[in-house]
Amino acid sequence: MVDRNQKVNIAVLVSGGGTNLQAILDACGSGIITSGEVRVVISNKAGAYGLERAKKAGIPAFCITRKEAGSQEAFEEQVIEKLEEHEIGLIVLAGFLSILSEEFTSRYDHRIVNIHPSLIPSFCGSGYYGLKVHEAALAKGVKVTGATVHYVNEIPDGGEIIMQKAVEVKEGDTPEVLQRRVMEQAEWVIFPKTIEAVCAKILREKE
Ligand code: GRF
Repeated sequence: MVDRNQKVNIAVLVSGGGTNLQAILDACGSGIITSGEVRVVISNKAGAYGLERAKKAGIPAFCITRKEAGSQEAFEEQVIEKLEEHEIGLIVLAGFLSILSEEFTSRYDHRIVNIHPSLIPSFCGSGYYGLKVHEAALAKGVKVTGATVHYVNEIPDGGEIIMQKAVEVKEGDTPEVLQRRVMEQAEWVIFPKTIEAVCAKILREKE
C-alpha cells in the first residue's frame, strides 16, 4: 500500500544482527531510498539485535516466534496481522531465517524481496544460509562470489532475480572475512538500491 506522501510502506523481517536492516535505514535517511519508508520491523528470534536497531531508529519492532505462535500457520497469521496493521506494500527479508509457506509467498506475489550472499544459482537453496554459504564457496574454490536480491516465491532462493553484484574471493580468505567483504561491497550496496527500484516500480503501477 502507498501512504499519503506517496511512499511504499516497508516491513523488514529479521532473525539476527540486522546489518542489512541498518543499511536500509541509513539509505532512507540519506536519500538513497525515497520511494519507500520502513514502518515496522519483525523478528522471529527473541533478542535479535535487529529489534534494537529498529527501536533506536524509532520504528515499531515486534518479535513473533513460531514456537510461541504454536504452528507455522499461526505464526504467519500473526505476521500478516502486523503487515495489515501497518498497511505494508513491500516485505523485505533481511537475514530472515524462517522459510515462509506457499500460502504466504503467493499472497504477496512480487511484494517480498530477499538478499542472499552468493551469486544465485550458486550456493543457494535449502541449507545455504549465513556462514555456510561462504564456507561452500571457499570449499569449491570459486574466484568470484557476491550477493543477489530476488523476489521471494515458494522455492527457497528460487524467485526472480532483481539485482546481483560480484565480489572477488582472495587468497587466504576465511568464511568470516569473505562474509564481511560480501556484505560491505555487495549486500549493503545493492539491497537499498533494489528496494528503491522496487518501491518506485510499485508507485508507478499505482498511477
Ligand atoms: C546476510 O548475509 C544476508 O545476505 C543473509 O543473512 C545475513 C544477514 O545479516 N540472508 P544481517 O542480519 O543483515 O547482519
